[in-house]
Amino acid sequence: MSVQAKLDHIGLYVKDHERSIRWYHDVLGYRLSDYLPGGNTDEPAAPEGISWLRYSNLHHDLTLIQYPAEALSAPEARRPNNLQQFALHVASEAVVEAAYEAVVSAGVTIHSPLKRGPVLGVLQFYMKDPDGNKIEIFNTPGLPPQPQRSVETAGVIQVEFLSHVGIYARDIQKSIDWYEEMFGFRLSDRRGANPPEPALQAAVPHGIAWLSNTEEHHNLVLVQLAPDEVDEPLPFGGRGSLQQIALDIESTDALLAAHEFLAGKGVEIVQAPRPQNWSGGMKFYFKDPDGIKIEISHGMKTVELDYGNQYDVAREIAAS
Ligand SMILES: [Fe+2]
Repeated sequence: MSVQAKLDHIGLYVKDHERSIRWYHDVLGYRLSDYLPGGNTDEPAAPEGISWLRYSNLHHDLTLIQYPAEALSAPEARRPNNLQQFALHVASEAVVEAAYEAVVSAGVTIHSPLKRGPVLGVLQFYMKDPDGNKIEIFNTPGLPPQPQRSVETAGVIQVEFLSHVGIYARDIQKSIDWYEEMFGFRLSDRRGANPPEPALQAAVPHGIAWLSNTEEHHNLVLVQLAPDEVDEPLPFGGRGSLQQIALDIESTDALLAAHEFLAGKGVEIVQAPRPQNWSGGMKFYFKDPDGIKIEISHGMKTVELDYGNQYDVAREIAAS
């Protein structure tokens, strides 16, 4: 047995909360669903401010959390990060091409230009968000139809769905085993140290693995850290920029069973199952072998197009 839960959304720590809300709105069309400014006492995990954003009709597809001051003044770390990349699927290769032209002319920082990927040959490019997080925009031709997720947005790019998240692992084999055992991920492809493809040699010289629990080739990418990075603390005072990865599960009963299963396997539970005050449904949190916080949730509420318009920050962005 393993937990059957699908990638749903992620959370990111950000240096400048409003700048990031605006960027995700302008470039990727995310709408603001809910917002708590710095100094709030409603969300103990985010006293410096948090926002929930969406490209779909669900309450959120992304959460942004303002780094506390002590994280911003923490000494620089030699370890790259916990988040290696995340990837958003768009409707067709023509949409990838149009998106690339649009972000270049909008002045978005490009990490790697439009090209065919070295392993699967999918059309892709990588850009950077204001915090330097690497975001892939791509299309897989011939993918079986997905449930319609995104709604019409005002962004430069029309996001269809979050396809995969890449994370750094201290011990890639241990992480592969863990994700297979806990979530039934299958290993789709793997390269060891010094991969033969020049693009991989440059980007992931210590090894990479692609895992999937859907029809897609991968929903999770594991990248091996360099030997001298393994024992280094994460940047931003140990936080990194990936605040959470959230998986969606089909029912409340399945969620409770997943909690029991993971706790029984000795997985570190961060927060036991509880009802959700902001987004509806139920969720719980635990940690992966590298300490990345993972959420399993069920029953997030859907919202109307104008949901979130009551916030000043949303009105300012819409007016500009
Ligand atoms: Fe979440």
